[in-house]
Amino acid sequence: MPWCRIFFLFLVLSLRNSESFPNNKIEDTDEDVEPAEFDIVEDKIESKNETLCDQCSPELCPAALGCRAGIVLDSCGCCSECGNLEGQPCDLDSRNSFYGLCGSDLQCKIDISDLGLGEVPEPQCFCKLQEAVCGSDGRTYMNICQFKEAAYSTVGLSVQGSGPCRTVPFIKVPPRNLVNVTGSTVAFLCEVFAYPMAIIEWRKDGNDVILPGDDPHISVQSRGGPLKYELSSWLQIEGLTPGDAGSYRCVSHNALGSVSASAVLGALGPDEMSAYLTENMTDMFGYDQPRDYDEDYY
Ligand SMILES: *[C@@H]1O[C@H](CO)[C@@H](O)[C@H](O)[C@H]1NC(C)=O
Ligand SMILES: *[C@@H]1O[C@H](CO)[C@@H](O)[C@H](O)[C@H]1NC(C)=O
Ligand SMILES: *[C@@H]1O[C@H](CO)[C@@H](O)[C@H](O)[C@H]1NC(C)=O
Repeated sequence: MPWCRIFFLFLVLSLRNSESFPNNKIEDTDEDVEPAEFDIVEDKIESKNETLCDQCSPELCPAALGCRAGIVLDSCGCCSECGNLEGQPCDLDSRNSFYGLCGSDLQCKIDISDLGLGEVPEPQCFCKLQEAVCGSDGRTYMNICQFKEAAYSTVGLSVQGSGPCRTVPFIKVPPRNLVNVTGSTVAFLCEVFAYPMAIIEWRKDGNDVILPGDDPHISVQSRGGPLKYELSSWLQIEGLTPGDAGSYRCVSHNALGSVSASAVLGALGPDEMSAYLTENMTDMFGYDQPRDYDEDYY
């Protein structure tokens, strides 16, 4: 997108220089350009513009290479340039005057959800079709535009079928190991992608009970999201006791199969907890003692 514009400005500038040469040359390179003079320069660019568009010479256009969203025409309708990708800003009119035009299968729209945030909403390229597609690489692309972007850089990638790929659940965010002091509240998160839709269950290793079972200090919450075809589940333990320590497993299954991931929970007494924090903080920051800032470094 920017190349054609740079090329175009270059043409404008060179035309302007050759026209005004030699009388204005010294003024042109003068650094203290007065405001009045600057206005004139701008006017000249505006009026040259049409002439340039009239003299379209496609053979002088820079090659539009590496366009992951296809090719569009520049503001003169003369040279080809790369269309903008999904999520990039764009010009709402079809004149390609500032941000550029959206590539193929994309539409320039203002996202109304930005309006509430007190931000000035900027038009962006959105994919016209929002159905997911399954790629021959077994990956689900949330829309055809994302698929085409990937296909541009992946040799031989094709569409396997419309809709997401049918797959055993895939754990996108596995639970992470946790350590906390007894009496505190901890929570494990497990995020899964699956189509057909999956369910998530939690178990403590060495125990067949599906949590929370009848344990009142444990609770489990699951909901769809954060993205389409995803499921998130939280296992929360309130009032941590030493007996809660152990390994917890997030198990997800759908019609095609089952996967799991586990994480370890440590429940430490207050003294153990501060020892743990001291030792592991110094590991993290790579120095032994907290710095003494009493010294005067000036
Ligand atoms: C000149 O170019 C600018 C941006 O490239 C465009 O917005 C404008 O409409 C053009 N003016 C004319 C007279 O073609
Ligand atoms: C540890 O417990 C405190 C108090 O309940 C809680 O705010 C904090 O998020 C917990 N930290 C972790 C890593 O779970
Ligand atoms: C610091 O962390 C490591 C690994 O997480 C653990 O094995 C060790 O016991 C911790 N230190 C203390 C003092 O608890």
